[in-house]
Amino acid sequence: MKRYIVANWKLYLSVAKSVQLAQQLVRFERAQKIGRDVEVILAPSMLALSAVALVLKQARSKIKIAAQDCWIADEGAFTGATSPRELRRAGASFVLIGHSERRQHGGEDDALLAKKVAAARAAGLKIIFCVGETKEERNAGRAHSIVRGQVRGVKSEIDLLAYEPRWAIGTGLPIEPHEAAQMHEVLAKEAGNDVPICYGGSVSEKNVAQFLSLPHTNGVLIGTASSTYASLTAIISNARKLSERSLV
Ligand code: 13P
Repeated sequence: MKRYIVANWKLYLSVAKSVQLAQQLVRFERAQKIGRDVEVILAPSMLALSAVALVLKQARSKIKIAAQDCWIADEGAFTGATSPRELRRAGASFVLIGHSERRQHGGEDDALLAKKVAAARAAGLKIIFCVGETKEERNAGRAHSIVRGQVRGVKSEIDLLAYEPRWAIGTGLPIEPHEAAQMHEVLAKEAGNDVPICYGGSVSEKNVAQFLSLPHTNGVLIGTASSTYASLTAIISNARKLSERSLV
C-alpha cells in the first residue's frame, strides 16, 4: 500500500530555510531511493512555494508540492488572494483546503471551502481536504457527525482526506489510535473506500508507525515534526519500513 507523508510547513520556515530543507530532502530521497512506496508531499508557505518547486524540478525529484491554501478564483479583484491556476503553474500538484487553522483564524466555512475545492479542481490541482472536530464537540459525542458533515458536500471532488482533530494539533498530544481508527472508518464510509485517508495532529517519528498501521489509514499530515530534517526523514524512514513489511 502506498503511504502519503504530507509535510505542512505552515509558517514555520523562512523562504531560505524552506529551500535548504528541500535541498536536504532531495539528497535524502536520492540516497534512500524514496519513490514507489511512499509519496512525500511538501506544503511550503506561499512565498516559498516557487523556490521549493524549482529545487525539486532541478533535481528531478518525485517529491510533490502542495499549496497550503488557495482562493476561489484564478483572477480578478481579490486583494491578497492566491490563484489556483498560478499555484499549478508554480509547481503545486496538490492543495490543502479546509485546514482547521484556516477555518478557525480565517473564518472559512463549508460554503467557501466548497468553492475553493471547485476552483482548485478546475485548475488541475488535487485536493487534500482537511476535517476535524473540537474538543468540546468530541466530549459532547458529536465528533463523527461533525466530521461527516464537513465531508458531505465535497466528497466526490477530493483526492485525499486528512482527519485532524483540532485539539491534537500542535499539542504533542495525539488522539488515541483506536479513536482515529473509528473516525477513519466513519470517513471511509462517508467518502467512499477509495479516497485515501491521512491522520494529522501531533504525529512524530515515535507514533507514525502506530497511526500508519491503523485500518483505513493511508498516510499522515504532519506539522511541527515536518519542519526539521531529522524528524521528517525519521518519519519517512519509519513509513518505508512499514511499507516494506506489508510487501512481504
Ligand atoms: P502538528 O503536527 O504540529 O500537530 O500539526 C498538524 C497539522 O496541523 C498538520 O496540518
